[in-house]
Amino acid sequence: MEKLRIMSVFGTRPEAIKMAPLVKELAGREGIESICCVTAQHREMLDSVLQVFDLHPQWDLDIMTPRQTLSTITSKCLTGMDEAIEALKPDMILVHGDTSTTFAGALSAFYHKVPVGHVEAGLRTYDKYSPYPEEMNRKLVTAIADLYFCPTENNRENLRREGITEGVFVTGNTVIDALKTTVRPDYRFAADELNRLPYGEKKILLVTCHRRENYGQPMEDIMSALAEIARTHEVEMVYPVHLSPVVQECAKKHLGGIPNVHLIPPLAADEMHNLMARSDLVLTDSGGLQEEAPSLGKPVLVLRRETERPEAVTAGTVKLAGVKYEDIVSMAHELLTSPPAYAAMAHAANPYGDGKACGRIVDAILWHFGRGAKPEDFRAGT
Ligand code: UD1
Ligand code: UDP
Repeated sequence: MEKLRIMSVFGTRPEAIKMAPLVKELAGREGIESICCVTAQHREMLDSVLQVFDLHPQWDLDIMTPRQTLSTITSKCLTGMDEAIEALKPDMILVHGDTSTTFAGALSAFYHKVPVGHVEAGLRTYDKYSPYPEEMNRKLVTAIADLYFCPTENNRENLRREGITEGVFVTGNTVIDALKTTVRPDYRFAADELNRLPYGEKKILLVTCHRRENYGQPMEDIMSALAEIARTHEVEMVYPVHLSPVVQECAKKHLGGIPNVHLIPPLAADEMHNLMARSDLVLTDSGGLQEEAPSLGKPVLVLRRETERPEAVTAGTVKLAGVKYEDIVSMAHELLTSPPAYAAMAHAANPYGDGKACGRIVDAILWHFGRGAKPEDFRAGT
């Protein structure tokens, strides 16, 4: 029997972290040829992930430009994917999540009549401008996909409400698979600044912020709230700043020069995961961090108005702080000054996965092609 050629397409840091264990799982299975095509919507931040997980893509579209727009990302991906698909002739294309690479990858697969598997399917806020453009990307990919790998039961329910019931699997999120390979108690950071932080003596706050819908006033308010929190509490705030020039400028303007704020370059995925494991509180607008921190028992304040990841809010380890200065300052103040409030959030919860998502996804792909048994669904808490 011919090997199945399964092509994973990704381009940004979070897609790469979440697809890396899947690319490896595919490569380890008999009967599958694992092909990797990157768009490089992110360049440096993607290359860092490729290095950490020792991935060597067969195809690289190398599309990134400074301050790129949604249209340029999408059109460059589409044009580049034509050539990649024609050369590599995949039997199925896997895309991840909700970025412009994800949408363009799925659309391009459709144009070439190649079936699409959507990893991290079924997340929704039902607000088409928030997160922007991710919510629309998810919906568009749902319309195109043939197989849906939902992290949680809640995600499957979202798809069911839209009439999608065929080819849907609840697998857990592959980010938990990735996290299991990176976090180690004896980890030493490459940057000595991180080894020297006063873990256990002062509260360590880990911060990230990058969302497009927060550009402008919301991001100004978030950053000035972060500055106020750092100035008024005995904490060390570590903020690996996303390479987007918009974010860089805003972070430096509000947080540069504050002695207990460490504005540092983006961290490699293993550095980031181990720093999170040693931090006390996470303040973020990131999707990935909202999934990782609960499994490490770290409370999260989400710097957004909504979340498509309600599971950890229900589990009590994540709270929506919003994007208003007063709300962010007061919610952080409570967690930093009230031990009972902190303890109520600081417990491990694993609603997003058990570290076996990639195995289930590959089993489901083999089942789809009539080459294996249907996998059991992931059930949180089992
Ligand atoms: C993108 C995704 C977003 C995801 C985020 C993860 C879209 C539209 N947005 O947003 O869903 O949450 O990635 O981080 O798909 N840059 C560099 N080097 C890098 C990466 C970025 O210089 O390695 C700079 C470039 O100037 C680039 C800008 O950052 O133009 C923005 O990158 P882009 O991918 O357009 O948007 P993100 O905000 O990163
Ligand atoms: N991350 C990283 N280095 C950093 C910041 C984040 O490796 O400096 C990781 C983080 O642990 C998570 C992923 O990148 O696995 C999240 O990416 P990001 O916040 O850029 O995107 P989102 O998840 O919001 O789409």
